[in-house]
Amino acid sequence: MVTYRPLPLTETQRSTLISSALSARDGSYSPYSKFRVGACMLKEDGGFVKGANVECASYGGAICAERTAIVKAVSEGTKKFVGLAVTSDVPAIISPCGICRQLLREFCPLDMPILLVPSNYEEGVTKVVKVSDVEGKGTEGVLVETTMGELLPLSFGPEDLDKPRDRS
Ligand code: THU
Repeated sequence: MVTYRPLPLTETQRSTLISSALSARDGSYSPYSKFRVGACMLKEDGGFVKGANVECASYGGAICAERTAIVKAVSEGTKKFVGLAVTSDVPAIISPCGICRQLLREFCPLDMPILLVPSNYEEGVTKVVKVSDVEGKGTEGVLVETTMGELLPLSFGPEDLDKPRDRS
């Protein structure tokens, strides 16, 4: 269960998250979709964990970049995260798929910042916008900043399983 609150990202954390997500694409194994995705998670202890999408000939077995990163971290003992950045080779931002959102929800606070990074991101040049500013305007070449709770509203999480039942 997630019981801590993330602090706002520092400038260094933001730029490292972004550059690490962009470079994480180099680890992508995506011969089927030819759609590289890179992700980077910031751990509560300050460390960064990168992930890329890994596909297989049985297409349904593909693992997204976000899940690669979180599974790497959790399986090595980290269960607290304070930031995430995701990018692809597309100048319009992409956003974590439904399965990834649920797995992220397991370990990430609802107010954790998530940076959706366009492929042509340039530090100091690319505009940073909130989801509310983007609606209807498209996401080409802008960095969209959102949160876990915004991506998965009214979500089901580990704490729901602790609630008393009407019947046993
Ligand atoms: N993919 C990700 O890695 N993350 C996302 O947020 C969306 C989709 C991957 C899965 C698959 O390898 C490829 O992109 C095309 O769907």
